[in-house]
Amino acid sequence: MTDVEGVRNLVGTGFVQLIGGALTSVASTILLIQISPIMTLSVLVPIVIFAVVMLKAFGYVRPIFRERGKINSEVQGSLTETLGGVRVIKAFNAEKQESINFEKGVDRLFQNVKKSLTATAIIGSSSIFLIGLASTGIMGIGGYFMMGGTMTMGEFLSFTLLLGFMIAPIVQMGNIGSQLTDAMAGLDRTQELMNMKEEDDSEVRTEFLKDVQGHIEFHDVSFSYEESKEVLHHISFKSNPGSVTALVGSSGSGKSTIAGLVATFLNPESGRVTIDSIDIATVNLSSYRQNLAVVLQDDFLFEGTIRDNILFPRPNASSEELDQAVRGAYVDEFTDRFADGLDTVIGERGVKLSGGQRQRISISRAILANPKIIILDEATSNLDTESESYIQKSLSELMKNRTTFVIAHRLSTIRQADQILVVEEGRIVEHGTHDMLLESEGRYHELHTYQSRI
Ligand SMILES: Nc1ncnc2c1ncn2[C@@H]1O[C@H](COP(=O)(O)OP(=O)(O)OP(=O)(O)O)[C@@H](O)[C@H]1O
Ligand SMILES: [Mg+2]
Repeated sequence: MTDVEGVRNLVGTGFVQLIGGALTSVASTILLIQISPIMTLSVLVPIVIFAVVMLKAFGYVRPIFRERGKINSEVQGSLTETLGGVRVIKAFNAEKQESINFEKGVDRLFQNVKKSLTATAIIGSSSIFLIGLASTGIMGIGGYFMMGGTMTMGEFLSFTLLLGFMIAPIVQMGNIGSQLTDAMAGLDRTQELMNMKEEDDSEVRTEFLKDVQGHIEFHDVSFSYEESKEVLHHISFKSNPGSVTALVGSSGSGKSTIAGLVATFLNPESGRVTIDSIDIATVNLSSYRQNLAVVLQDDFLFEGTIRDNILFPRPNASSEELDQAVRGAYVDEFTDRFADGLDTVIGERGVKLSGGQRQRISISRAILANPKIIILDEATSNLDTESESYIQKSLSELMKNRTTFVIAHRLSTIRQADQILVVEEGRIVEHGTHDMLLESEGRYHELHTYQSRI
């Protein structure tokens, strides 16, 4: 937003001045030449030299302006983050450290502004110095001509007057020059952003999904976040429409990464992920994501009312649909006790609600979205048994007739799953139902006995 502001200033005021100034300059120059070509030349030569120097100077200033845009967005970004994490900062008594960080950012900005101001100030003062020099020169030459009788007093007066008209816009251009540089730097940064590749690349993603069944299959998928550090190795499995696939395994084994691939937040490095036998990499993203919902451990709620947050995926849903979603996730169980019911304002990121309540709102939001494919990252937090049972019930309402991927921590969810994938170090080491896996007494058996002991 600030980058394009420079362009607005330039187009709004700068250009108008520039055009008016340039016209005046040109007209005055023609008249000046008519009065005395020699005197005009003696003014024009230093001006041309000055213009060249000025262009060079603005070339030097431009990267500084560009840097300023970058610093500005960095400082603002980190400030926003600081304010968002204010609880963590208070809890760890880190106010001082954060304010030092902010000061450092502001100081960087100040140094940058100082640098560019110095440069523009030098340009400005040297242009004024140039006027003085030119006027003095003209007075000298003009006086000499008048004494020699080749120029009248009237001609000399009109020459100096016109000279003012010619030079004033050039001085002004110094100002416009810095505006122009600012705008150019802003345009550079804007262009960088505009040239970034879109996620939903219309050249590659040409398949539009209709009537999604929800058949998801991984064909020998490998993935890495960083080069030469593969996180998933040759993953293959199949999830039938309406089935529940539970992902279990130790921390860092790659469960969230598999979920991210299903959600198309990540793209496989080799191998394919298919939906109803179509390669997801060729599918139009919005046609796929219309059929997808994600419920995360600590889901993001927006400032506003509970109703706004539930209606978020489909703002035009009917009141019956809303009602169904609210009851399906047992949100009414607590909103009925609020004076404003569904219209209760929940504050930034839902700070006015408990963890369990927030979770039920995000489940309700997913029910309303009515997706074919669901990705759930189950909360590990210990909720009291009552909340727990509400969430359990709302989750099973949500999973009904949908292809579900659940990163499961609760035994009850895992037991219900149609298939369990045990992931270790980026590989599927075991695969089957709860009973089958227990019987084979492998890694799942180990995890299971460990968890039951707790
Ligand atoms: N954005 C990222 N950039 C680089 N490496 C990452 C990134 N996200 C995850 N990893 C790495 O990928 C591996 C798998 O991570 P993943 O998040 O899939 O684990 P997980 O099984 O979901 O673990 P948990 O149960 O703790 O959530 C880890 O070794 C992790 O360090
Ligand atoms: Mg994870």
